[in-house]
Amino acid sequence: MTPLTDRPEWHALAAHHPTVADVHLRDLFADDPDRAVRFTTTVGDLQIDWSKHRVTDETLRLLVALAEVVGLPAQIEALYRGEHVNTTEDRPALHVALRMPRDRSLVVDGVDVVDEVHQVLDRMADLATRVRSGAWTGATGRRISAVVNIGIGGSDLGPAMACDALRPFADPAITVRFVANIDGDELWDALADLDPAETLFVVASKTFSTLETLTNARSAKRWLLDGLGTTGDDAVARHFVAVSTNAEAVADFGIDPANMFGFWEWVGGRYSVGSAIGLSLMVSIGPDAFRSFLDGFHLVDEHYRSTPLAANGPALLGLLGIWYRNLFGAETQAVIPYSHHLRLLPSYLQQLDMESNGKSVGIDGAPVAVATGPIVWGTPGTNGQHAYFQLLHQGTALVPVDLIGMAQPAHDLGDHHDLLLANLVAQGEALAFGRSAEEVAAEGVAPELVAHRTFPGNRPTTTILAPRLTPSVLGQLLALYEHKVHTQGVVWGIDSFDQWGVELGKVLAGRVAGELTATEPPALDHDPSTNRLVARLRAARGRA
Ligand code: F6P
Repeated sequence: MTPLTDRPEWHALAAHHPTVADVHLRDLFADDPDRAVRFTTTVGDLQIDWSKHRVTDETLRLLVALAEVVGLPAQIEALYRGEHVNTTEDRPALHVALRMPRDRSLVVDGVDVVDEVHQVLDRMADLATRVRSGAWTGATGRRISAVVNIGIGGSDLGPAMACDALRPFADPAITVRFVANIDGDELWDALADLDPAETLFVVASKTFSTLETLTNARSAKRWLLDGLGTTGDDAVARHFVAVSTNAEAVADFGIDPANMFGFWEWVGGRYSVGSAIGLSLMVSIGPDAFRSFLDGFHLVDEHYRSTPLAANGPALLGLLGIWYRNLFGAETQAVIPYSHHLRLLPSYLQQLDMESNGKSVGIDGAPVAVATGPIVWGTPGTNGQHAYFQLLHQGTALVPVDLIGMAQPAHDLGDHHDLLLANLVAQGEALAFGRSAEEVAAEGVAPELVAHRTFPGNRPTTTILAPRLTPSVLGQLLALYEHKVHTQGVVWGIDSFDQWGVELGKVLAGRVAGELTATEPPALDHDPSTNRLVARLRAARGRA
């Protein structure tokens, strides 16, 4: 594989960089007021204003040329055709098939995956409808009032974030909670005020082998059986369903295979919210709203596949990210949703982006030639403004920021929403244009404070606006980021669909767990620091 830095298109971009790096956004706008129109891209209901980026038409041309020469259009086709783009696991990454409408067909390795997807969606809809209507009851005949999703990573972050985001669409009679951490305090807190007779657990795990999830599921089962005063399998059958690709492990756990909702190896955990992993979300918002969520994804899937790169929203965002990560050396990317309901979006995007593109070797196993995935972080606006925005405005690090807002709120309480949106707009303006020393001095600020009160500006933002946070808009937003991550992975030449980097810690934790809990003092042969930590914790837990 040709290293990125050996490509003439890379050299052209690198040569172009100094011609833009020292230009201020104030001058870019002064010279080209029309850029606000030209550098706004519409994708479905999303208006993406990327004019406050330190780019020119020439930058865009060079970025697109780079994407073309690395074969992005062909890679998009390979993704959608179900080729084994996840090379290290020799599988497709076919999350786009999860969102295809019923009348589509996609035959992969001899199987129509769209047909299979809809069979599972229909079974999910049946369960969701029965739970919501009260036709599905617990073991004592009471209707379900609480759904507890037990899962972690992609089996938690997607449905947890989406349930929070779509709370205004939820059935208020059903509380939905999420338990991920192996820290028993989370499960304890989640169950403390629930009635076992009215609680349905969704055990969500692609592999059904994840330590956290199985440990929580076992404790939940004990809580249920103790609470109901029974030992019967019947109770488990009425109160536990599973979402997994591993039917055998589900049966071993004691969940009736009839209550298992399958998905496929070709759905990566962080791309799985549209699969049966979204079951708790479907119970909460209902099958129709869930379909609309999938349709939102699909709309952007189609856009990504069919739109030329220069007007392709996800590809543009990906290429802008490359520009900052590789040419400006920006190490992080902030995502600030001006939306309480999107408060979990940054955590979701952390897994999506960092588990996908946090790689140091290319598909061929050779070290990558340039830096890859940024650290993604953020919390909702306006909260962050009163915490870390100081650094964004006046710190020494360059942090590109995504500002996300909805024109209409779910609940219109007087002036709240206009003030929220005013802050979103004002932050983009302040970050881009700042306040010069002359302007500060002209305001009468004491000379010794002028430097402190100057805002350099020239800090890039993307502003993403949508009319309202509906299931469809949420699906559109998530697909936008999924495909942005794909674009970057293709340019960097990495496998965005594996996650080998999580394995070592899991293996070592198993070994340490044995040492922490051994009745006899174990022989410790870690490094001296780890040995001391294990010994100290054994002592603290009353084991010599
Ligand atoms: O450890 C990382 C990971 O494999 C993620 O990729 C995945 O989303 C999460 O764990 C949960 O995995 P599972 O759904 O198999 O329990």
